[in-house]
Amino acid sequence: MEIIYTTKALQAKLANARETGTTIGLVPTMGALHVGHASLIRRSVAENGQTVVSVFVNPTQFNDPRDLAAYPRTLSADCRLLEACGADYAFVPSVEEMYPVPDTRLFDLSPLDEVMEGRFRPGHFNGVCQIVSKLLDAVMPTRAYFGEKDFQQLAVIRRLVSRYHYPVEIVGCPIVRDEDGLALSSRNARLSVAERGQALCISAALFDSRPFAATHTAAETKCFVESLIEATPLRLEYFELVDGESLQPIAHWEETRYPVGCIAAYCGQVRLIDNIKY
Ligand code: PAF
Repeated sequence: MEIIYTTKALQAKLANARETGTTIGLVPTMGALHVGHASLIRRSVAENGQTVVSVFVNPTQFNDPRDLAAYPRTLSADCRLLEACGADYAFVPSVEEMYPVPDTRLFDLSPLDEVMEGRFRPGHFNGVCQIVSKLLDAVMPTRAYFGEKDFQQLAVIRRLVSRYHYPVEIVGCPIVRDEDGLALSSRNARLSVAERGQALCISAALFDSRPFAATHTAAETKCFVESLIEATPLRLEYFELVDGESLQPIAHWEETRYPVGCIAAYCGQVRLIDNIKY
């Protein structure tokens, strides 16, 4: 596993793969890698001749500077995990490398970016698209891998790729959870022991909502999850039942064949998201 710092050096490394028609997998990350990332990387290694994992904390997708400053940075441990997973290259660019000049591009993601995360984190998905488009341009991968925990991000990236004609297959990978149900996230590292216990209420509420949803209306299911979370020390930002493709909220189950419940809640200072398919 080699660490590469510049786009030019990365492209030189990948030139041979490209000439020989070897498939290239890209796993974009912001580091602080965990078992969830490992599942994406292992899948890319299994499905492609070469795998590039980018490790870059992208400033343009943070709308809260404190969140950017607090984002965990664990490069040595990340490289050990990449090695163990069989990745070929860690692409670890600097901010100046990725943004030599400010990126003023605005992506048309409407209406996917107008709900849920888009409402509470204005500009977040535009920043995600800025960096993902730069990574796709740099790596020109055959496939790119993203986790379903960031359900809305995955939909936004699929939209980016189809609207702007990127010749890449986007592969969505299932959420990886700890044994007790907590969805793996780099942000979990910031939870105290007590907060981690509270954070479990998020996945527990989602799991409980599945049997509830089978015998209740969408509106009742939404209230059910909201009241479960409101009875805990967590601060609920939103719980929405949406169509899994358009991400638009549904009022009745009949409105979609692909209902998904998406949640965001604060556990102390740490903002967590999760989702469930019904
Ligand atoms: O999901 C993430 O870690 C980030 O949003 C991504 C896709 C690596 C872009 O910075």
